[in-house]
Amino acid sequence: METTEDYGPPRDEHELTAAADITAQAFAMSATDAETTVRKNGPELLRLLRRDGQPAATLTLIRMGQFLGGRSVPLIGVGGVGVAPAHRGGGVATRLFHRFLREMRDEGAPLSVLYPATQPLYRRVGYEVAGARYEIHVDASSLELGERTLTLRPMTASDDAAVQACYRRFAAAHHGWLDRGEYIWKRVRTPRNDTAHGFVVEGTSGVEGYVYLIRNLVPQGAVPKQALKLTDLVATTPAAARRLLRFLGDHRSLAQDILWHGGADEPLLALVREQTYQVKLSMHWMTRLLDVPKALEARGWPQGLSGALHLDVQDDLFPENHGRFVLEVEGGAARVRPGGEGRLRLHVRGLSPLFTGFLSPRALQLAGMLEADDASLTAASALFSGPAPSMRDMF
Ligand SMILES: CC(C)(COP(=O)(O)OP(=O)(O)OC[C@H]1O[C@@H](n2cnc3c(N)ncnc32)[C@H](O)[C@@H]1OP(=O)(O)O)[C@@H](O)C(=O)NCCC(=O)NCCS
Repeated sequence: METTEDYGPPRDEHELTAAADITAQAFAMSATDAETTVRKNGPELLRLLRRDGQPAATLTLIRMGQFLGGRSVPLIGVGGVGVAPAHRGGGVATRLFHRFLREMRDEGAPLSVLYPATQPLYRRVGYEVAGARYEIHVDASSLELGERTLTLRPMTASDDAAVQACYRRFAAAHHGWLDRGEYIWKRVRTPRNDTAHGFVVEGTSGVEGYVYLIRNLVPQGAVPKQALKLTDLVATTPAAARRLLRFLGDHRSLAQDILWHGGADEPLLALVREQTYQVKLSMHWMTRLLDVPKALEARGWPQGLSGALHLDVQDDLFPENHGRFVLEVEGGAARVRPGGEGRLRLHVRGLSPLFTGFLSPRALQLAGMLEADDASLTAASALFSGPAPSMRDMF
């Protein structure tokens, strides 16, 4: 008898339990942890692929935004992708993504982003590497600097709105950073099996910066040392930056390594006296353009630049993205119309690193991912120029 497959959110308790079991086996989690995770996300955020009526694969979707060129572009983050062990190797994950990406596109989302455990699967369905997340390690003993001019105090629940507004101001100026929703904020405040301690820095205009930190013991020597993991660190003024560095330095009697995440161009490192820090690639993230014209029109573009590009895009999954478009940029915004001469040709996959500015048009040409005449290459190099795309948050 032929196998039937269908797709959707979990329908009942039995399916939530099945999703938890797939999650536990996919990520080597305890049954209790997997149950908690799956139930916390609930049917709203979970999607299943069923084979003959039984859940065979699951994923978690996270609705949020991504700041690109200073504008927040609606984004669907994907996490928790798992296929039941007995169903692996048969294209189940690929088919789950076909259904899921179509649903998200129909819902109106222009973009999707994920952190891949394996790339070929996601490349198959149109994702490509399009940005980075770095680990930033600083030696606490080198942070005997900064100043204590601004007030620093423990964060309380009544600070939530001001802290979120502070993050948003900061993130909007960081190309690629998330316009967070509740899912990501929970990960910042209460990462798995832990609670982060929050501290705010206040100036005359209110909250100018803040930090969330977790202290871990590092068992070595007679006196156990500590490692500080910052789930968030934001300074929107130079005075807040100096106050936060001083605060971190005030942990130096017992703390050694201080870790946070962000871009390779971390501005706080400019205040550190010597190179007592390390910046290491943690992971690259992958982007899928679900709606090409919408994504191009939603992001911000360099002010003071104008130009047009004639694109020819191939997309085997979405016929709506397949074909020729003219991209016209002016005054920091873009308009896209169908048609044109198709002088810059690429697969929708290759469009991801171009769109975020992760790879230049010439680099994409060298990698065999883009073909164009010289004039189009020059125009594209200018229009897609900007800071390297990075992201602080993992999901
Ligand atoms: C990775 C996983 C989701 C793939 O599911 P699947 O249904 O077997 O995937 P598909 O059959 O659709 O395979 C598509 C492609 O993905 C890649 N792939 C599949 N399983 C893989 C694995 N275990 N490791 C690395 N790559 C894998 C292959 O390139 C495959 O194409 P190929 O068979 O032509 O080589 C599944 O093995 C799984 O649940 N693993 C544990 C959890 C995990 O790693 N999740 C991903 C988190 S981002």
